[in-house]
Amino acid sequence: MAYQPKDAFYRKAKKEGFRSRAAYKLLELNRRFRLISPGDRVVDLGAAPGGWLQVAARLAGRAGKVIGVDLQPIEPVGQQNVMLLQGDIFSLETEDKLKGISACSVDCVLSDLSPRLSGIRDADISRSIELARGALRLACRLLRPGGNFLVKSFVGDELGDFAQELSECFDTVQRTRPEATRKGSSEIYLCAKGFRGRAQAAETGDSGGQRQGQRV
Ligand SMILES: C[S@@+](CC[C@H](N)C(=O)[O-])C[C@H]1O[C@@H](n2cnc3c(N)ncnc32)[C@H](O)[C@@H]1O
Repeated sequence: MAYQPKDAFYRKAKKEGFRSRAAYKLLELNRRFRLISPGDRVVDLGAAPGGWLQVAARLAGRAGKVIGVDLQPIEPVGQQNVMLLQGDIFSLETEDKLKGISACSVDCVLSDLSPRLSGIRDADISRSIELARGALRLACRLLRPGGNFLVKSFVGDELGDFAQELSECFDTVQRTRPEATRKGSSEIYLCAKGFRGRAQAAETGDSGGQRQGQRV
């Protein structure tokens, strides 16, 4: 896909003070699916540079809390209800920190995780699904029953199986492509609502990927 750095959403984000054009994807998806409510505890996986963090912090409001996680350092977004954590979503250290901060009663887990693109289509799709499974594994450990999960993946052969895994852990799963998605991008978002709880997730395999060194 040709890189299109300065499209309308890019310019809008610059003008409105969002760190990334991706902010408009979360705004649209939240309007349509009501993922985050005031007072919610939210975990944002793959949060750098921080567009989704800015949006999630506004939606959760002062009574809420948003924890942003990324391999890359994130500049503070200037909102008091935001905490930043630099780490790998597959590491035990990151998982333990998230459990400690959130007390495992998170209302919404967001994942906009993306692999560093190799240009080899199948490898990039596979890595994207691996990240989505890693996000699901964390979501199953952090969400409260009834919680929501929004996850990005690239479209490929494994997506159907992943969507099936999601539907075993959540009441509803919808596939969607927000307007701000770049033209020609193969990314899609899965919006899963109504977490069925850790017991159900464990029964169905809690298959959201393994810890580092044991990736599926
Ligand atoms: C598309 S960007 C996220 C954009 C962000 N949602 C925003 O609105 O600004 C994807 C992010 O996933 C992060 N990422 C990829 N693999 C990761 C991993 N294993 N653990 C943590 N973050 C990871 C990358 O560093 C990158 O910053």
